[in-house]
Amino acid sequence: MPYMWISCNNQPQYIPVCIGSTGVTAADYMTQPFILRWGIISTGRIANCFVTDLLVDPKTRNVTDVVHKVTAVGSRSVQSAQKFITEYAKGDQSIKAYGSYAGVYADPNVNAVYIGTPHTLHYENALDAIKAKKHVLCEKPVTTNAAELRSLLAAAKEHGVFFMEALWTRFQPLTLEVKKISESGVLGAPLALQADLSDNFQIDKLPKTHRILDPALGGGALLDLGPYPLIWAILALYEHPANQGAAPSNVSGTMLKTPLTGVDRNTSFTVTFAERGLAAQAILSCNLNVHGHQTGVVIRYEKGTIAIAAPIYCPKSFTVQYLEGDKVTKEETRRFEYVGNGWHFQADEVARCVRDGKSESSLWGHDKSLVEMGIFDEVRRQGNYKFPPGVEKVV
Ligand SMILES: NC(=O)c1ccc[n+]([C@@H]2O[C@H](COP(=O)([O-])OP(=O)(O)OC[C@H]3O[C@@H](n4cnc5c(N)ncnc54)[C@H](OP(=O)(O)O)[C@@H]3O)[C@@H](O)[C@H]2O)c1
Repeated sequence: MPYMWISCNNQPQYIPVCIGSTGVTAADYMTQPFILRWGIISTGRIANCFVTDLLVDPKTRNVTDVVHKVTAVGSRSVQSAQKFITEYAKGDQSIKAYGSYAGVYADPNVNAVYIGTPHTLHYENALDAIKAKKHVLCEKPVTTNAAELRSLLAAAKEHGVFFMEALWTRFQPLTLEVKKISESGVLGAPLALQADLSDNFQIDKLPKTHRILDPALGGGALLDLGPYPLIWAILALYEHPANQGAAPSNVSGTMLKTPLTGVDRNTSFTVTFAERGLAAQAILSCNLNVHGHQTGVVIRYEKGTIAIAAPIYCPKSFTVQYLEGDKVTKEETRRFEYVGNGWHFQADEVARCVRDGKSESSLWGHDKSLVEMGIFDEVRRQGNYKFPPGVEKVV
């Protein structure tokens, strides 16, 4: 079995896990798997991580109802597309290399497009793909602002295609398990959450044109690292049934900018959910100039705590403490292992949604990306971080 739980007394228990919104049914085992044909836009660091995982045999993670095939790679240079296929797609000669992104959008052998360009290009790349009637999986942050996202969602609806932000953490088996415990009621209501994602990028040694530093590429901590602390707040608080889908009642943020280029180097923000049946607050932070710490996420409930180990974008273990008053009555640690690095679970979700004719995922649906981008807009507004004119294509 692909996933393993280890309880605190270190007795391994092997369990099968159903993945994705539709799960695996008996009927799926009797039919041929659905093949999703992917076109890859750009050949940077994250595109190679995604494709490497896409090519891991789904059976290694107990998935038999969908498979993935890379059919095209588009880059600003055809040499780069060819090199990418050689290095990350086992030199598969059947994959078409294009020296433009447009070639991928026009390729009839592509069903779904994965977009791995810098943030500020997501809007135009996704729009072009949607207009070509391709389903879209677009890297985080899905756009530079909420207005761009609303425009993309309208276009996806008009052209009848599936659209999803590639918030891969949301689809990992550990995350599904945390959600199950969180919503089971066994710990009571969530009250407070803290999450941080930091990395020492050594920004003083980077060129100012690097995407993390360049305001024209949406640089800074918030848009690059911020989605990860926020995804845990969205999972544990926004998605909690007691919240009844309410948007945050308050968002408060502060930014410390680097004098190098003026992008946010250190950003902290609080998100409060107190509109309906929940009264809970998340304290979130992201930094470009300090290393991360071991406990990435702590979620405190009325009757216990869930602590999720770093790295919070792809954690491999979490610990649940059950409390009576201040006394810990039980503690359980769960670990998860699988072949690959965790990017493939979101791809399985896309394949199932496309197969089932859905326009959005029930795990990371459009409403959640809209909540995310609305929060980022507000934190940037309070932090007075404006992108250069023309960067935001819709305002
Ligand atoms: N999910 C995750 O774990 C994760 C991790 C890191 C980053 N990301 C996200 O993925 C996106 C890309 O990040 P990355 O680290 O992969 O960046 P990267 O290594 O710089 O790659 C970006 C690619 O985009 C293409 N591109 C097109 N126009 C560009 C321009 N003006 N400047 C630079 N590149 C341009 C280039 O590919 P071609 O030359 O082939 O066209 C480039 O290789 C970002 O939005 C980031 O937030 C996600």
